[in-house]
Amino acid sequence: MKNTPINQEVVSRKIKESGLPQVGTASIREIKKLINNIELETGDSYIRMEMGIPGLPPNAYGVKAQIEALERGVAALYPDIQGIPLVKNEISRFVKNFLDIEVNPEGCIPTVGSMQGGFAAFLMLSRIFKGRDTTLFIDPGFPVHKMQHKVMGLKFDSFDVYNYRGEKLREKLEEYFSKGNIHSVLYSNPNNPSWICFNDVELKIIGELANKYNIVVMEDLAYFAMDFRKDYSIPGQAPYQPSVAKYTDNYILFISSSKSFSYAGERIGMMVISDELYETKFDNLKQHYTSDGFGYTMVFGTLYPLSSGTSHSAQYGLYGILKAVNDGVFNFRDEVMVYGEKAKVMKKLFTDNGFDIVYDKDEDEPIADGFYFTFSYPGFDGVELLNELIYYGISAISLAITGSERTEGIRACTSLVKKEQFGDLENRLKKFHENHPIS
Ligand SMILES: Cc1ncc(COP(=O)(O)O)c(C=O)c1O
Repeated sequence: MKNTPINQEVVSRKIKESGLPQVGTASIREIKKLINNIELETGDSYIRMEMGIPGLPPNAYGVKAQIEALERGVAALYPDIQGIPLVKNEISRFVKNFLDIEVNPEGCIPTVGSMQGGFAAFLMLSRIFKGRDTTLFIDPGFPVHKMQHKVMGLKFDSFDVYNYRGEKLREKLEEYFSKGNIHSVLYSNPNNPSWICFNDVELKIIGELANKYNIVVMEDLAYFAMDFRKDYSIPGQAPYQPSVAKYTDNYILFISSSKSFSYAGERIGMMVISDELYETKFDNLKQHYTSDGFGYTMVFGTLYPLSSGTSHSAQYGLYGILKAVNDGVFNFRDEVMVYGEKAKVMKKLFTDNGFDIVYDKDEDEPIADGFYFTFSYPGFDGVELLNELIYYGISAISLAITGSERTEGIRACTSLVKKEQFGDLENRLKKFHENHPIS
């Protein structure tokens, strides 16, 4: 083997000890553990791009409000399952201010991370129609959503949107929706892992077809306003974060506080159910719950047995953040823009050294610089590339585990990479390029 930046004997031994058949097919957490072990023994720091966790301090407004709430004694009290009125009102204001949509506070529900919102929604949506048993994922996507389906024994179908951008999305979606087995559709926007962002043409298509086929749209806004090409962060002022909510009333939004507000540790997110869906009655729900009302069943039939609501103090923390954001006192985009700045530099280091960006365009516009980007190297598939990059002190995950058909690709997360590491990244990529000349 060629000369590589990290001690080859140690890397090979640690891979062997890990019992993983291949690094390239391992899960995010398995890779994390392996790299920790290699770093410990070699003393070398990796360019760690495998995990999508925030790399910034927590939101100060949140921390302050949460501490004050704890000191007032809220930890002793069960919170309302549907959320405390203060936070519900502030979520409703938030969606008005930043999405330009009206939602009654009743349908604005804090959840244990947006992760729990997804779990609860999948469970209920699989039961709203007799005969319709499948969720459609517009991939690539967040692997844990599929894992949630698997643990609940729920069916899903998916397609990679890479070749179906713009107007082409209509025909593709219609192909699935017209089969009659789909009850709901899910995508993230901006997209984890590819960072593609649907534009209004695409969101309108999704909304129109949801209306035509009576399908619930789950829009996962885990990276709210983090398409940094536009500024969606001024309350009550256009441009607004693009959303399907403009084109259908049949939606659930998941808004995470983990990345946009650097609040992942408190496990608090927002589920926003449109007024119309909240009030809709589905006969089939009566097979499983005492009520047929969607919103009522979400709260008292689904979130109740799952966790009986969300941490009381974290709700105050979220309230503190949202109040500052809604009042225009705190601009959350300014805090997280650094991810985009890092992505810009990192992408250039990769492309200067023979790598390609896999998902590189939103139709004909270059993709935004943000939390994630995807890359490949000529002659390698994603799994082989990861197997090799580990010897160069670079870790990431393969796109193969995200439902992407671009199996040559790898997802890189910018959050944990420090600007001081750019020199190391450059040297390691140069070495890789030197050792693998492109013919
Ligand atoms: C697309 C997507 N959805 C949901 C989540 C989970 O968000 P939360 O931390 O709010 O549970 C993530 C986290 O990485 C994500 O990337």
